[in-house]
Amino acid sequence: MNEHTEALSAFALDIKRGLDQFPKTLPSRYFYNEIGDELFQKIMDLDEYYLTRAEFEIFVRQKAEILKAFQGDNQKFRLVELGAGDGTKTKVLLSHFVEQQVDFTYSPIDISGNVLAQLEEALKSEIPSLHVEPIVGEYFKALSALNTDNSSKEVVLFLGSNIGNFDQASGVEFLKHIGDNLSSGDMLLIGFDLMKDPRKVLSAYNDKEGVTKAFNLNLLTRINAELGANFKIDQFDHFPTYDPLTGETKSHIVSKIKQEVFIEALGESIEFQAWEAIHTEVSQKYSYKMIESFAEEAGFRIVKNFTDSNDYFVDSLWEKM
Ligand code: AVJ
Repeated sequence: MNEHTEALSAFALDIKRGLDQFPKTLPSRYFYNEIGDELFQKIMDLDEYYLTRAEFEIFVRQKAEILKAFQGDNQKFRLVELGAGDGTKTKVLLSHFVEQQVDFTYSPIDISGNVLAQLEEALKSEIPSLHVEPIVGEYFKALSALNTDNSSKEVVLFLGSNIGNFDQASGVEFLKHIGDNLSSGDMLLIGFDLMKDPRKVLSAYNDKEGVTKAFNLNLLTRINAELGANFKIDQFDHFPTYDPLTGETKSHIVSKIKQEVFIEALGESIEFQAWEAIHTEVSQKYSYKMIESFAEEAGFRIVKNFTDSNDYFVDSLWEKM
C-alpha cells in the first residue's frame, strides 16, 4: 500500500485488481451508473435484444398459470424481487394479481434507495391498491431479515437472466445463498436465457446502432469521471463472443493501439499492448440440462418452466426443498 492505495473506494480497488491482472478484467456490475442505466433501457428496446420481450411475453400470456403456481393451495405470499429496476415486466404480474384480488405483498429489494423510491412512486399511481414494502439493502441481508418473520410463504423473483452474469461456480453459490435464506416450500422464479442460433445471441450483444458498444465502453468513461483516468474512448473497441459449446457469451473491450492510461486515483499507469483485451461481462446462455443441474446443486426442485413462443427464454419456477 502506498499513499494512493490507502483510502481507495471499493470501486477503485476493484478496478485496480482487474486491470493489474492478466488477462485484464473489469466487473460488469459497474456498468450501472446513471448513464449505464439509461443505455441499458435503450438496449431493452433494441430489435436485436430479444430477452426482455421474450420474458414480457411469458408474463403476458401465462400470468394466470404463474399465479396458480405461486398460490399452491391458496396460500397468501410475499413476492420479493431481487434487482427490480423499473419493474416494467413485473407490473404485468402485479396488476394481474391485484385484479384477481390476491392477498399478497410486493417487496422489491435494491441497494439503491433512490431506485426503490422511484419504483414505489410509480406503482402507487399505476396500481394504487397494491401493497408495497420496499427493502433497501443487500439481497441476502434483506432475505434473511424477511425469513425470520415466518408468517407467510415467500416467492422470490430473479428475472431478466441476471443470473447469467455469474460464472458457473459463483452462480451456484449465489443460488445456494438465496436458498439458505428461505424456508422449505418457498419459491424462486428465475429467468434464464436459452441457447439458440449463435448468430441470434451474438447480435443481441453487437447491435447495429452501437448501443451495446456504448454501454460497454461507458465503463471506461466512468473510470475517467470517477477515478480521474485518461482513457481515450475512441482508441478502444467493443467485441463480444459467443461459444455455442458452453453457452458462454462474453463482452470485451479491446485496445486498438499500444497505449498507456494514467489513473489518478490509483497513482498508477496501466499499459495496453496493441489489440489487448479487457474481459468485461459474461452473459451465460443455458440448456434445460444446465438449468436442471443448477436447481439440484442449489437445493431446489423445478416446479414448472414457463417459456415464450420462440423458446428463447425460460422463467423457471423452483421450490426450496
Ligand atoms: C442485465 C445482465 C441480463 O447480460 O443480457 C445487455 C446486461 N449486457 N447487453 C445481459 C447486458 C449487454 C444483461 N443483463
